Amino acid sequence: MLLKNGKALIGLELKKCDIRIENGIIKEISENLVPLDNEEVVDLTGKIITPGFVNTHTHVAMSLLRGYAEDLPFKEWLFGKILPAEEKLTPEAVYYGSLVSMMEMAAHGVVAFCDMYFHEDMVAKAVADFGLKALLTRGLVDIGGDDNGRLEENLKLFRKWNGYEDRIYVGLGPHAPYSCSKSYLSKIIDIAKIEDVPVTMHFFENAWEYEMYTPREIMDIGFHEVHFIPVHCTQLKREDIRLLDGSFPSINTVSNMKLGNGIPPVTEMLKNGIKITIGTDGPASNNSQNLLFDLRISVLAQKSYSPENFKVEEAFNALTKNGYSALRLTGGTIEVGSPADFAIFEASHIQLQPVDNFLQNLIHAYTDRVYATMVNGRFVYINGSYPTVDVEEVLEKFSTFSRMVTGIES
Ligand code: NI
Repeated sequence: MLLKNGKALIGLELKKCDIRIENGIIKEISENLVPLDNEEVVDLTGKIITPGFVNTHTHVAMSLLRGYAEDLPFKEWLFGKILPAEEKLTPEAVYYGSLVSMMEMAAHGVVAFCDMYFHEDMVAKAVADFGLKALLTRGLVDIGGDDNGRLEENLKLFRKWNGYEDRIYVGLGPHAPYSCSKSYLSKIIDIAKIEDVPVTMHFFENAWEYEMYTPREIMDIGFHEVHFIPVHCTQLKREDIRLLDGSFPSINTVSNMKLGNGIPPVTEMLKNGIKITIGTDGPASNNSQNLLFDLRISVLAQKSYSPENFKVEEAFNALTKNGYSALRLTGGTIEVGSPADFAIFEASHIQLQPVDNFLQNLIHAYTDRVYATMVNGRFVYINGSYPTVDVEEVLEKFSTFSRMVTGIES
């Protein structure tokens, strides 16, 4: 495939160029490339191509619960509403819930995400069908009793899906230190080392977690020795920041604000050279999967302390390059050898004017859908439509399952 006449964000500069894609990988970038025999040509005159965005924390199937539990304290929200509703989720419901979140992400330039949930086999199936990339984990909990069933499910998921089409990978997802015993966490770390897989966990999201243990106690279980994506880190104190060296924190400011958990210490992390990434969290606690909105709120939250905090380049790296590193994927830049994972914009879009300040306007002004999103050289969203799914059918099934879970009669 040849993408012709567009402008691409190479490094931080917009350059007019054509992009040749072979087997989902960028093969050539140059001005005026001549189409080969039988090569599909996509004319991108008036379009801007950027690396795709990476959402490093979500629970995609929770779109079924969007808007279901609002204005409640965290514990009441989780234990009183969300967990009881989740008891009713079936594998098929999870499939359709996942598709709807992926449609929202794709319409906003997201090409890859990290998920933690259950019936994760169906999330994998939805990712396989839809065409995004994902690092999937089965949420692991042993407080309240576990017979290793969840861990076994996670390993089964790994054996079945890890490496699928160079798009789906499987990691380990202990839910949180407050829902896992230390011996369980230690067992999970051992498996992560043996199988060489990433680990992700909700980490100091709430102030009350400090009453149970310190971040050092948890990290010392072995999280330093594995590829680790700690999620939230909202409550970390200045002296604890260096514990995150070498990890890829997923910052979910919107979810933190909405659930009254505070503002994560992003500026302090950046000062310490920590590679932060951005996550939306699930649609029941955000409630959108538009990652650019999350990024902007995260940036503004830091700028509320000082306008020099969380600069444009840092924000863009969090959205792209660092996200790829977090999910242990190749990519995040437009260069030969990178996967053809792109977000594509209309250069004439009003919120991007003046387009010479494209990156600044993308971070600080743009709120709309993208023109198109491509993953491994294949469009998953283009000009308002989704080539890989039947939208009407998905939405019909989704509504039925959402009503079943939340108990709302149709
Ligand atoms: Ni979460």
